[in-house]
Amino acid sequence: MSATPSFVPAAPGSAAATSLSGLFTSHHRHCDEAFAVAEKAAAAGDWPAAEAAFDTFSTDLLAHFATEEEQLFPAFESATGMTGGPTAVMRHEHVQMRGLVANARQALADHDGDAFLGEADTLLILMEQHNLKEENILYPMCDAQLAGQAAELLPRCTASLQSGA
Ligand SMILES: [Fe+2]
Repeated sequence: MSATPSFVPAAPGSAAATSLSGLFTSHHRHCDEAFAVAEKAAAAGDWPAAEAAFDTFSTDLLAHFATEEEQLFPAFESATGMTGGPTAVMRHEHVQMRGLVANARQALADHDGDAFLGEADTLLILMEQHNLKEENILYPMCDAQLAGQAAELLPRCTASLQSGA
């Protein structure tokens, strides 16, 4: 089972290097890949590989949530004055997903494949819906509202995302 590669800083000039939406969307794909590795190992009953891969995935996902909650969302909220809008919904969904991650991790520790795949399925559905809302609605709003701060936010957010795996 190959390890998921680390999140690589974007090439200069690429979408991930030049826009907040590009950066956060590319990190979503990075998390998706890490998740798929864990799910595949669990489906094969390879518990050590599944636990290692799920650890990598959850470290990445939690770094993603933290970067949004501590860097991106506060910047958006102070630029727009909107604290009860889309970022509040996203923060609430992060809480739900953290719970599912904890449940899935426990199921892996118990070597309970059915429980893991059940939790992982629910997590995957929630993650897909959440990511679509961010990529289609919130991130483009961030690009528009935070254009003047992007040069400063991009390296800060990249470093924070990389504090995952
Ligand atoms: Fe999010």
